[in-house]
Amino acid sequence: MKRIILLGLMALAVSNVAAQKSNSLKKAFQNKFYIGTAMNLEQIHGTDTKSVEIIKKQFSSIVSENCMKSMYLQPQEGKFFFDDADKFVEFGEKNKMFIIGHTLIWHSQAPDWFFVDKDGKNVSPGVLKQRMKNHITTVVSRYKGRVKGWDVVNEAIMEDGSYRKSKFYEILGEEFIPLAFKYAQEADPNAELYYNDYNEWHPGKVKTVTQLVKDLKSKGIRIDGVGMQAHVGMDTPSINEYEKAILAYAKTGVKVNITELEISALPSPWGTSANVSDKVAYDEKMNPYKNGLPKDVQTQWENRYQDFFKLFLKQKNNIRRVTLWGVTDNQSWKNDFPIKGRTDYPLLFDRQFNAKPVVEKLIKLAETK
Ligand code: G3I
Repeated sequence: MKRIILLGLMALAVSNVAAQKSNSLKKAFQNKFYIGTAMNLEQIHGTDTKSVEIIKKQFSSIVSENCMKSMYLQPQEGKFFFDDADKFVEFGEKNKMFIIGHTLIWHSQAPDWFFVDKDGKNVSPGVLKQRMKNHITTVVSRYKGRVKGWDVVNEAIMEDGSYRKSKFYEILGEEFIPLAFKYAQEADPNAELYYNDYNEWHPGKVKTVTQLVKDLKSKGIRIDGVGMQAHVGMDTPSINEYEKAILAYAKTGVKVNITELEISALPSPWGTSANVSDKVAYDEKMNPYKNGLPKDVQTQWENRYQDFFKLFLKQKNNIRRVTLWGVTDNQSWKNDFPIKGRTDYPLLFDRQFNAKPVVEKLIKLAETK
């Protein structure tokens, strides 16, 4: 009898040690995939010390939420501003993070001058190609060997699989995408290169993005991954349709990066979107949890995160990275999108910088899978 009790106590001790083995997301997921977060300026400049401590402890990868977008890096033609981006990269190197640059070519947050001549008319294809090449070459070369992966092109495909009618597309057609990847590859042959988008489980988008990857590969142009942004809600997308998309992208021979994950608990005026230009007027009914999530919603929200991480762990061989789009709830863009002035709870750390109970559950999940 004593022997059985002793064995039981030993098993308990071992399981407790195992449970305590990882006291952070970074440790729990270290042999699965990078787990990262977006960094805002207050974190990059170190003024938000509490978030910085969380980032250092919990995450193995970082991405610039805004400061490496072309409107901030090259606000005027030929005039670059690298102070914030330099601090971001230095933080990542100091803390041995897998550093991601976001994003080189995006129809949104591009400086106005990028597409027009001095008379405000669209520039020629040749001029736009030169501007793209100069931007990409200057930025990627500056961080050569330091930024490990780039969102080269962001959000160029619509849910139905058509190309977004952006200025890049209007002036250059589909060619702007291979050109962007080619310029990035030339500037840093060793950096991982990604195509990044949202709502990437829509069959139309899956079809065009997988074809895009195949076309790049057939041209001998480097692409290492597809970024699935994962700005999701409580009901859409289903885990099954999300998994189908992961498998479709992986089948083209690239890795999947879950690049901008957050799960909004608030009612949505539509399914899911992350198109920053989509906005909806404020309505009290759409802001039901100003004083916190009710217990049942909290539980549903936690289960939703666990369902997604069960999928990511199941597909870990196809997944390179899972990045949360921010640290604490108050920092999330979702408090003001698609409706300004709401109180959302989409991230893993609360407004008091505490890890939510779901963090411990995700750590345990990683240790059992
Ligand atoms: O920093 C200025 C501040 O000085 C000024 O007072 C304030 C006034 O509006 O604006 C501040 O800049 C804002 C910036 O976020 C930093 O907070 C910009 O207006 C605002 O447009 C910008 O929004 C970002 C948005 O992309 C557009 O760039 C969000 O933070 C960011 O989370 C969001 O992220 C995008 C990804 O890059 C691409 N995928 C979709 C995702 C969500 O839209």
